[in-house]
Amino acid sequence: MKITTTTGKLKLQPDAVAVCLFDDEIKAPRLPMLDRSTSREVMKLITAAKFKGGKKEIVRHFTDRGTAPVIILHGLGSRKDFEWHTLRLVAGAVVRSARDAGAKSVVLISEEKLTDELPAEGVARSLVSGIILGNWRFDHYREVPKEDKKELKSVVIHFTTAVRKRAADRIIKTVRTIAECQNLAREYGTHPANVVDTNYLAREARKLSKQGIRVTVLDKTRMEALGMGLLLAVAQGSAMPPKLIVMDWNPRNSKKTIAFVGKGVVFDAGGLNLKLSSMEEMKSDMCGGGAVLAAMHGVAKLKPKCRVVGIIGAVENLTGANAYRPSDILTAMNGKTVEVMNTDAEGRLVLGDALTYAIRKYKPNGIVDVATLTGAAVVALGEYSNAVFTNNERWQKEVMTAAERAGERMWPMPLYEEHSELMKGDTAQLRNAAPHRWGGACTAAAFLKEFIEDTPWVHIDIAPTAFPSPESSIQPRKTATGSAVSTLLELTLGC
Ligand code: BES
Ligand code: ZN
Ligand code: ZN
Repeated sequence: MKITTTTGKLKLQPDAVAVCLFDDEIKAPRLPMLDRSTSREVMKLITAAKFKGGKKEIVRHFTDRGTAPVIILHGLGSRKDFEWHTLRLVAGAVVRSARDAGAKSVVLISEEKLTDELPAEGVARSLVSGIILGNWRFDHYREVPKEDKKELKSVVIHFTTAVRKRAADRIIKTVRTIAECQNLAREYGTHPANVVDTNYLAREARKLSKQGIRVTVLDKTRMEALGMGLLLAVAQGSAMPPKLIVMDWNPRNSKKTIAFVGKGVVFDAGGLNLKLSSMEEMKSDMCGGGAVLAAMHGVAKLKPKCRVVGIIGAVENLTGANAYRPSDILTAMNGKTVEVMNTDAEGRLVLGDALTYAIRKYKPNGIVDVATLTGAAVVALGEYSNAVFTNNERWQKEVMTAAERAGERMWPMPLYEEHSELMKGDTAQLRNAAPHRWGGACTAAAFLKEFIEDTPWVHIDIAPTAFPSPESSIQPRKTATGSAVSTLLELTLGC
């Protein structure tokens, strides 16, 4: 799909014209870019459809006159409640509506006031990501009805001035790449574990070696030699081979190293502490690893100045004859011993060794781990925000700033001494699950902290947002969201 920009009077003959309006603009919208007959159609439609300009309001109308056979109106709600996210949802809805109407091309127009008051970069950022995310579908397996096969070929975004158009043009390619990587992570997280297994993730990583990224995949023997007793214990209940996937973007003259570490549990049955509900959703338990993998695909394209290392602990957590058991005592790569209290608290074990490896081998200036780590984070925040933890406020601020640019929600959570106390073992140094459920997202983070040494670290628990139930114009039902990909990429762009 082509995404381009335009300014001035509309000379194109698109199949569809989409007009976005705030609720205070519908009485007298100024739309000088439209020819007279199209703008008359728009006015008529506002009245006929009793269009109010509400945030989720969308109207579609087929005409046979003017430049545009299909007219779409989308509300932006009230100006004072405006959020960037609204614009993204609007773009997604417009793209879908135009596509479903059989249009091959659509021009997206906003009333002058919108585009003049808001920075053009922000407008372009939200619209472009909304377009790419809204256009994504997952239909590798279902029988696709003919009408769902329609494809939109071109989206043109109209800006009021040439200066604004140029500002938008400067960032469109980057924003598009980021959104496409997010879609890639959605693919990883939505395919089931019999497709996206540990080998699949390793193959996806190896593709990057042709693009200037050094890829190493550590197998079981190498990990045994390194003493990764935590990661390997989780893997031993499954026939699927564990992999530690390492992707290293190391540009000349880099001054800084950032490491991303992802939980890549391709399926989490819970182990012997078998899950009792929603087990099928646990194909998405590799979404942290998938985010790191997809972000590294973006790094290969966007070529940031600093060194970026992506590491994924890829395993499956099942109940095979050799499965690890509650009460087992494991020894981590960093030498700490861990008593297994619950085999379903496997993510922190996988990450523990992966974090040690990242820190010892690459000595990063900052590390970010991404994981669908706890149900407790979902209980705390609902499906609306990720939970973030840190040992370094400054590093967290950098991550949060990147998240803001990316339009992703990250809510800072506390990490107290008391949380760490709860993770001390009875018969070993640590335990992998606290004695009670309270503050479960915090105690999980406290466990990870034991593997961080002194590196500035941010832990992002994406369990709330990785595979949520609410759908939207940019998120189909029952699919992975690609959470955290754009934050990670924005972070590398600022380095
Ligand atoms: N993968 C799950 C966490 C999860 C739950 C992600 C729901 C997405 C949605 C994780 O491995 C897990 O099972 N955690 C346990 C930890 C507990 C046993 C201490 C949990 O959250 O219940
Ligand atoms: Zn689990
Ligand atoms: Zn898990």
